[in-house]
Amino acid sequence: MEKKWIYALTLLLVLGVGFVAYRSGNESGNGSSSAGGGEVSEVASIDVSEGKDFLVPVSFAEVAKHSSKESCWTVIDGFVYDLSSWIAQHPGGERAILSLCGQDGTERFNKQHGEFNQALNVLKGLRFGILE
Ligand code: HEM
Repeated sequence: MEKKWIYALTLLLVLGVGFVAYRSGNESGNGSSSAGGGEVSEVASIDVSEGKDFLVPVSFAEVAKHSSKESCWTVIDGFVYDLSSWIAQHPGGERAILSLCGQDGTERFNKQHGEFNQALNVLKGLRFGILE
């Protein structure tokens, strides 16, 4: 008698799990066809050009005006950065950063720090403009 109940419960459990698996399989199938765009934008959100639409267009003449410790802007790979708040925090010393103020710092930055490192992460947070 007890065995019968165990069989019945096991059967119910298997059917239940099967039903849930079938439903979730269907949902993800529909999701990828109707919300495919959403998936693509998720990938795009980790792109280096993230936030490009919100960047201020800045001329090089304007960048050149910000060549002091108090207001230090630089251009790296076509993006404009305000380094002022970060000068004193640079592990490689203030002088390295001061040499970039009001300049195109692409070459010096890439030469020292290259790609995919901590320095690039810091830069991301200081970016506010895009060179016109
Ligand atoms: C805005 C531009 C820069 C940022 C955001 C930046 C950021 C950093 C960061 C996060 C570190 C510590 C971690 C690491 O080594 O990657 C560092 C170290 C250093 N940086 Fe920079 N940096 C910049 C520009 C420069 C420039 C132009 C030079 C030299 C011409 C330079 C020279 C160094 C040196 C010598 C060190 C310490 C030694 C080392 O670990 O490489 N940095 N920088």
